[in-house]
Parts: sequence; structure tokens; C-alpha cells
Amino acid sequence: MLQLDFVDGTLGWRRRHGGGRGQAVAKAVGLRAGAKPPKVLDCTAGLGRDAFILASLGCVVHGLERSPVVAAALKDALQRAHTDSTTAEALGGRLSFQHADALLVLPELVASIEPEVLYVDPMHPPRPKSALVKKEMRLLREEVGVDVDAEDLVRLALEQGVNRVVVKMPRRAKAWVREPQHQMMGRSTRFDIFLFSN
Ligand SMILES: C[S@@+](CC[C@H](N)C(=O)[O-])C[C@H]1O[C@@H](n2cnc3c(N)ncnc32)[C@H](O)[C@@H]1O
Repeated sequence: MLQLDFVDGTLGWRRRHGGGRGQAVAKAVGLRAGAKPPKVLDCTAGLGRDAFILASLGCVVHGLERSPVVAAALKDALQRAHTDSTTAEALGGRLSFQHADALLVLPELVASIEPEVLYVDPMHPPRPKSALVKKEMRLLREEVGVDVDAEDLVRLALEQGVNRVVVKMPRRAKAWVREPQHQMMGRSTRFDIFLFSN
């Protein structure tokens, strides 16, 4: 069974010791010292890790998850996080999740939430050498499979007129839809960053 935990485990540890704004996902969404943290619409919430990290760093984050099982696990984990005073304080009410398919609701949500960043981290096919995947990610993969329509979601995200669209990709994959203005390289993944000025 997929049970997520924002209080202890990896995320609790990362919140307490995990590098703050220096974390790759924080840099990718444009979190900077002295600037107001951006409002982020996470189109692919999954295990909620990126959403949690960004919210605990000051971003208002709304996460969408289309799998009912995963969405229920996210809401349950968030409810439990709110009963732990230090985690609740760190989140400051800035994190929320919704069971929805971003492909269906994105334009409507962009209009109502007015996010500064759209974040897309779909389920890519497993890498040949990725046997040591953590338990939660293995359960998530069993639940949702591969997001074969992910490029459609990136295309839709790029059409929304939001200033910044961030797409997490396997390090060596070809960029989707068009070349991004920036790429932030990690060991096995990278962030493609598309910028628009309105
Ligand atoms: C790789 S996981 C995301 C991991 C997440 N960034 C984290 O930090 O835990 C991708 C998730 O996006 C969800 N997803 C994919 N396409 C979606 C869509 N169009 N709308 C909502 N959720 C979607 C999948 O069901 C899956 O749970």
C-alpha cells in the first residue's frame, strides 16, 4: 500500500537538514534569496516530494494528481503533517493537493490560481540501471505506470502564458516540444526551464 509521510523519513530529514534554497528543484523554480517565493502549480504531484520541499521553502504550491490512489495518499499525508506542529509550521498552510488530470483542468486552474511557475515531472520509462529505486517510487510506478501523454501536458503548459515552466527530464533525453532557454543538469535527471515574459 502506498503510504506517504511528510513528517519523518526522507522528507522530514530533508526539511531539517536538506540544503534549503540550494536544492535543485528550488533553483529550477527560481527561488532566490530576498525575492518573494513563486506560486507554483505542480501538474504532476506524485509522491509530493517536490511540492513539499517547495512549500517548506516558502512557495505556495498546489499539486494535481490524476491517480485516485496517489491523490488519496497525498491528502492523507498532508492531513497527518498538519497534526505535527513543526511540520505544520514549516508548511504554513501553503501546500494543497487536488485529485485531477492536469490535461483537463490546467487552463481553468491557471486562470484562478495565477501561478508564476508550472512544474511538470511526469513518470518517464525506467532507466535500464535503475534497480535500486526506493520503495515509494516502486509502488508509485506500479500504480501509475509510464505517463505516455506527458509531452501533451508540456505542450499545454507552454501555452498557458505562465512566466516559467519547469520540466524534469531524464538527463540525456531530447527536449520536448521545443528547446528550453535553460537546462539544469543533475546526475541522472535535468530540469528544462522555459521562460516567458508577459
Ligand atoms: C514522477 S511522479 C512525480 C513525482 C513528484 N514530482 C515528487 O516529487 O514526488 C509523476 C506523477 O504525475 C502524475 N501525473 C502524470 N500526468 C498527470 C496529469 N496529466 N495530471 C495529473 N497528474 C499526472 C502521475 O500519476 C504520477 O503520480
